[in-house]
Amino acid sequence: MQAKLETSIILNQHHIKNRLVMAPMCMYQSDDTGSVKPFHEAHYYMHALGGIGLVMVEATAIDPNGRISLNDLGIWSNNHIKGLSVLATRIKEAGSTSCIQINHAGRKAVGKNIFGPSKIQLEGKDQQPKEMTLDDIHDTIKSFQDAAVRADKAGFDMIEIHAAHGYLISQFMSPLSNLRNDLYGKKHQLLNDVIQAVKQVWPIEKAISVRISGTEYHPDGFDIDDVIEILKACNLDRVDIIHVSSGGNVRPNVTSFEEGYQLPLARKIKHQLNIKTIGGGLLNDYIIGEQALTNDDCDMVFYGRLLLRDPFYFLRHIDSFEFPIPYKRGKLTPPKEKL
Ligand SMILES: Cc1cc2nc3c(=O)[nH]c(=O)nc-3n(C[C@H](O)[C@H](O)[C@H](O)COP(=O)(O)O)c2cc1C
Repeated sequence: MQAKLETSIILNQHHIKNRLVMAPMCMYQSDDTGSVKPFHEAHYYMHALGGIGLVMVEATAIDPNGRISLNDLGIWSNNHIKGLSVLATRIKEAGSTSCIQINHAGRKAVGKNIFGPSKIQLEGKDQQPKEMTLDDIHDTIKSFQDAAVRADKAGFDMIEIHAAHGYLISQFMSPLSNLRNDLYGKKHQLLNDVIQAVKQVWPIEKAISVRISGTEYHPDGFDIDDVIEILKACNLDRVDIIHVSSGGNVRPNVTSFEEGYQLPLARKIKHQLNIKTIGGGLLNDYIIGEQALTNDDCDMVFYGRLLLRDPFYFLRHIDSFEFPIPYKRGKLTPPKEKL
């Protein structure tokens, strides 16, 4: 019987060879220029060689003032296109689908001039954000759009709008960080406007993902039902998949998480909105990913830290996955090969 993880999936017009997603993970290996370094080239190529169907490039800053760290990758300038195109090309050469996550960190950013929806300081941060003016908001939406143009020019098959983990878009989604009285006080408004702006420039045949936090784990924050209402208020036409994570805007009132803890959130969004989802969260083996697909919790499964510690995990555990030809002799198959 064919395992579900091995089966292909079509997002928009794009055929993805299996259901595995490498979660976007900031590697903090660039410098103040935000440019791609040899590390990133090797890193993403290696993970694509590891058999992952959809390789997501880490949160990439649409604006230098929206960086999580001074070592983030950037997509705020046309100078970034060439380096990013190497990542898209390498990922595809290795047989995977390439996606890039675009982000603005808002009040969580580094630097002196941080802004957010309201003047509410992030717990543990010594700086109060400036409240964004309408011009700031419009400029930021335009920066997301310009980033999408560059991502297309770099050759990515898919783009992911980062609306999770307490970064700018999710700050606008949360009653804990958005106290505005204007149009953008509506919790779905910035997310929706960014989606529509990206759609205007993103080629019709290419796929779009939105990453969201399904809950803030806080009594006064948003929960999964609020997120579903926010997503319902957005025009999700042309959004191919919702990538479901959680938390990040405030300290959670939960102290420990179990394997697969975000899967119920992905399941609820999938079934209530009738949209494809990517689910995961602390998945430590392929069995739990396979179960998530069998249970219809989600359509694709993301793995993060497992892949950092073991980039070739799936080559070793899923029989039908081909080792890259130069590495074939490394595959231990009984009877043991003589060296
Ligand atoms: C080193 C590291 C960097 C991360 N950077 C990002 C990021 O750039 N964008 C994002 O959406 N999530 C980021 N995350 C969260 C992961 O995508 C993923 O949701 C999280 O690690 C949980 O999945 P896991 O338990 O399989 O690792 C990061 C996680 C780690 C460990």
